[in-house]
Amino acid sequence: MSVIELNMSSESFATDRKDKWRQSWFLFGFTFVTFAIYSLAVVIFDFENGVRGVVPGAEYQSPFYGPDLTGYISGWPVMLPFAVLTLWAPFGFRGTCYYMRRVYYRSLFSSPPGCAVEGFEGRRGKYSGETRFPFFLNNYHKYFLYLAIVLGIFHWYEVIVGIFHDGIYIGVGTIFAFLDAFFLTLYITSCHAFRNIFGGSSKRPGKRTYQIWAKISSLNEKHGLYFWLSMFSIWIYDLYIRLVAWGLLTEVRFI
Ligand code: FES
Repeated sequence: MSVIELNMSSESFATDRKDKWRQSWFLFGFTFVTFAIYSLAVVIFDFENGVRGVVPGAEYQSPFYGPDLTGYISGWPVMLPFAVLTLWAPFGFRGTCYYMRRVYYRSLFSSPPGCAVEGFEGRRGKYSGETRFPFFLNNYHKYFLYLAIVLGIFHWYEVIVGIFHDGIYIGVGTIFAFLDAFFLTLYITSCHAFRNIFGGSSKRPGKRTYQIWAKISSLNEKHGLYFWLSMFSIWIYDLYIRLVAWGLLTEVRFI
C-alpha cells in the first residue's frame, strides 16, 4: 500500500473561493466515515439482530445481510457473520463509484480539497494514479456494477417476500424496505458505467439507443443525490430493524 507523505505548508488550502466549500468537505467526509464505522460495527458485533425473524411476524432482513446465502451453505460458523460472503460487492461498488471517489479524495485525502483549492504541497510528484492497491480497484467499477445489479434484484425480492409471506403484510419496516430497494435502483441506474453499458457504448447509436442514453443521462445528473439517498435508506432500514429487535421501537402493521 502506498504511503502518502504529508508536508503541510502555508499554501495548503489556499484559494480565492468565497463560498463555504469547507462545510460540504467536512459534512461529506464525516457522514461517510460514520456510515463506514456503523457498517463494520453491525456486521462484526451485532449481526444476529439484523437477520430475518428478529421482528415477530415480519420478514425483514437487514440490507447488510442480503442475499441470505446461509441456507445454501452447510456448516457455516455461527460466530462468523455471513455478510462477509456478500458485503464486499456493495462495498466495492460504492467504494469505486465515481461520485464516491470525489468525496473521499476531497474529504479524506484533501487531494485536492476542492476545485481551485490548493492541496498539500508535499503530495506533488507522489501521485501514482490508480495503479496501486487499493485504488487500482477503481478500474473495475463496471464489474462491481454487474454485481450491484444482481444485489438490487435481491433487494426487490426481499420487499416482495416481506409483503407476501403471510397473506399480505405491510408494516413500517415494509416502507423502509421499499425505499431501500427504490433508492438503490436509482443509484444503480444513474451510474456512469450503467449509462455507458446500456446506452453510451455505441459509436453510431440508433434512435432507441439514444433514447435510453438520454434517459439514463437525466438520472445521471442526480447521481450524487441518489448515492446519499440510497446510503441513508440502507442505514435507516437497518437501524429500524435493530431498534425493534432491542425493544426500543414497536413494529406497526398496517395490513
Ligand atoms: S459512478 Fe457511482 S455507482 Fe457508478
